[in-house]
Amino acid sequence: MGRGGFGFCNVLGMVDRSISSTLDQAMSPTNAKPIQRFLYAACQHGAESVLKQALCEPVGPFRLAYSAKGFLTFKSNMATPIWSRALIEHPLVRSRGTVLERVEGTESGPMVEQILASYVSMDWEVLHVWQRDTAQPGWNGFEPGESLLAQSVAELIRNALRQSNDAREVRASGVSRETPQIPASIATAEACVATHVMSPTEVLSTVPLERQAPQGAKILEVIIDEPNRWWIAAKYAQKSYDFCPGGVPDLFFPEEVISRAYYKIAEAFEWGGIQLRPSEKVVEIGASPGGACQWLLDRGTKVTGIDPAEMDERIANHPNFTHWRNRSREVKRKAFQGFRVLVCDANVTPNYTLDTVEAIVMYPTSQFRLLVLTMKLPDWKHAQKIPEHLERVKSWGFESVEARQLGHNRREYCLLARRRVSQRHST
Ligand SMILES: C[S@@+](CC[C@H](N)C(=O)[O-])C[C@H]1O[C@@H](n2cnc3c(N)ncnc32)[C@H](O)[C@@H]1O
Repeated sequence: MGRGGFGFCNVLGMVDRSISSTLDQAMSPTNAKPIQRFLYAACQHGAESVLKQALCEPVGPFRLAYSAKGFLTFKSNMATPIWSRALIEHPLVRSRGTVLERVEGTESGPMVEQILASYVSMDWEVLHVWQRDTAQPGWNGFEPGESLLAQSVAELIRNALRQSNDAREVRASGVSRETPQIPASIATAEACVATHVMSPTEVLSTVPLERQAPQGAKILEVIIDEPNRWWIAAKYAQKSYDFCPGGVPDLFFPEEVISRAYYKIAEAFEWGGIQLRPSEKVVEIGASPGGACQWLLDRGTKVTGIDPAEMDERIANHPNFTHWRNRSREVKRKAFQGFRVLVCDANVTPNYTLDTVEAIVMYPTSQFRLLVLTMKLPDWKHAQKIPEHLERVKSWGFESVEARQLGHNRREYCLLARRRVSQRHST
């Protein structure tokens, strides 16, 4: 596991002393109003430099305190309460919170004991255990959220709490893909997001455009940075992903997926709290080989895939699938009539994606209510253009436009846009 290559040791020394002194004042059980000065942000390997630039002085309000691949801490000049609502927000931030302490040791057992001795009396409601990414998503089979270590640490904590009749919930990232103990869709729907079912007649008219904020909860986090170095953090959950350890929903995936796009689209709909009604007509640009189509067909929808490349034969032969073997710009705009959901995963630049989608959704007969666009970033610097992308999509009449780098995204992010019953064109 690598670390950021800039003055890491000096910075770490500063964090150690500062955190200890802050915690001396802040974490004493008798202290009614604990405060903190450090925040953390977790992200995909490679996204760190974008976050440092966006969040640190002179552009942002923070100073970098600690940097490892996929995990950063920042020092703020302002002391804020532990359960502050003012957490770091950025489309590339997967998980965020306030840092309370760093714990080091050689064995999980004593480290868990130390944590519980300090925090069992604190007023947290749920405890999350998760591990920072050890690789980029998809690299050598690695997928974010999968961590046997996090699961075993959570089990130790659960057992210790049980022994003292403490019934608070302990959740770990890393539900196994092959042997889920409970259907993850049920667990996730209840615990992670507020799920909205589209009505039979209107795809999105019943979906609140401002997604319901999940009920706030005080979450204590044990973040495994290295097996012998953990961070304790806290967050007052505000967004749907705050409810998932490390910001990655524990979805159930079948053993055989046609491509990783299956994971991406599943996570996108989970993040958006959106369920498709069976028989909904969905069109995907950049559909080959068919992972996303597989997920969509599994939901009972009727899928049209646009791609000059061949589809996997399991998709190509599916009765609810139609292949338009073209580039998207070769398809007549009129042909999109009747579709209300557009998915795009073409490996083209963000501007090409936006030009293509704009031409489709602004066509007079367009009835699209929901766009799920995977925006490929040619380089990490391109992430600075995300606000421009969002503004552009808003200008097409979509009231709710959001961006997030999903756990299963690679160097790309998910743009989710929805609008009510067409304002531009009545249906
Ligand atoms: C990342 S792959 C898509 C993976 C796919 N969504 C899945 O679920 O397996 C990108 C695809 O975009 C397609 N593509 C690139 N430019 C395109 C265009 N202008 N129109 C349609 N498809 C395009 C490529 O042929 C390629 O198959």
